[in-house]
Amino acid sequence: MAKKILVPWKMPEIGREILRKSKVEVTYLHGPAGEIPSLRELTEAVRQADVLIPRGTQPVTRKVMMANPNLRGIANYGVGYDNVEVASATELGIPVTNTPGVLTETTADLAWTLLMATARWIPQAHNYVLSGEWKAVGGRTFMGLDIGPGGSNRPKVLGIIGFGRIGQAVARRSRGFKMKVIAYDPPLKSLIEKTKGVAYRDLDDLLRESDFVSIHCPLTKDTHHLIGEREFKRMKPTAILINSARGPIVDEKALLSALKQKRIAAAGLDVFENEPRLTPGLTKLDNVVLLPHIGSATNDTRGQMAVVAAQNALAMLQGKKPKNIVNPKVLGSPGYLRRIGA
Ligand code: 8YV
Repeated sequence: MAKKILVPWKMPEIGREILRKSKVEVTYLHGPAGEIPSLRELTEAVRQADVLIPRGTQPVTRKVMMANPNLRGIANYGVGYDNVEVASATELGIPVTNTPGVLTETTADLAWTLLMATARWIPQAHNYVLSGEWKAVGGRTFMGLDIGPGGSNRPKVLGIIGFGRIGQAVARRSRGFKMKVIAYDPPLKSLIEKTKGVAYRDLDDLLRESDFVSIHCPLTKDTHHLIGEREFKRMKPTAILINSARGPIVDEKALLSALKQKRIAAAGLDVFENEPRLTPGLTKLDNVVLLPHIGSATNDTRGQMAVVAAQNALAMLQGKKPKNIVNPKVLGSPGYLRRIGA
């Protein structure tokens, strides 16, 4: 029987091309603007698939996996894979892959774009011009926060939470701004200590010292609500929080009150606890810059993510070990061997 791949989102052409050339049967399932199907529709459609390529933020629950006893793999389109219930996949004998590497630099660019836009009130100033409110020389001046050392020549402190590939790329970009860089990531403590120009800090010290706190760790049960009310109390009132990792790492309600009460100066967010819904009140604030999860969104990078996801999917379809497996211990399991017919 012909093997089938299910792609329940709008995959870039370069990824489709790879799947087309492989001559497998591919079903694309999404709305006209790329809207993903509901969980019910996904559960129904997965019954016909041998491999699923979900969009990186599309929930893939145990129920979805249980719908098809022959599912051979889940090739997530994203480096983060908290959208997939990996423990269930492992238990059921289903390998899961991600797309590391290809999006590192693009996501670090976005974190910096957000940091600079937030520090200098760029969207607010842009809207001021567009709305015609700029009527007099002087007017509103949009006093920002320095990223570089500023007129008083005081280097600013960048605190990086999560020192994996993206955190490291964010640190590299800080050199031109002459910043002092500190980082928190317990499993990578020795790497941080070995990295030139970066010093290790415990979380509380990092929060106390940083002018900018930028989050780059994965979402796990340990990092869920890592930043909440207690942590905002430790930050400087002039500090800016940047989150381009995963929304639930920050307690969004606590962030809302910290921003309202000006316990911190501002936040730049590309990710939210319950995308695409935002905590009510967040969009009413004047000290936020909010983006719709576009960290990896360039044609080049999203294309390469599609290539990696397609290659991982084809390997799993053939019962081969995929390059970017996140649950490698699944490979010898009886459930997996049965799925690939070994
Ligand atoms: C999304 C991301 O996956 O790679 C990640 O972890 O957050 C993003 O690249 C992207 O929106 C594709 O779904």
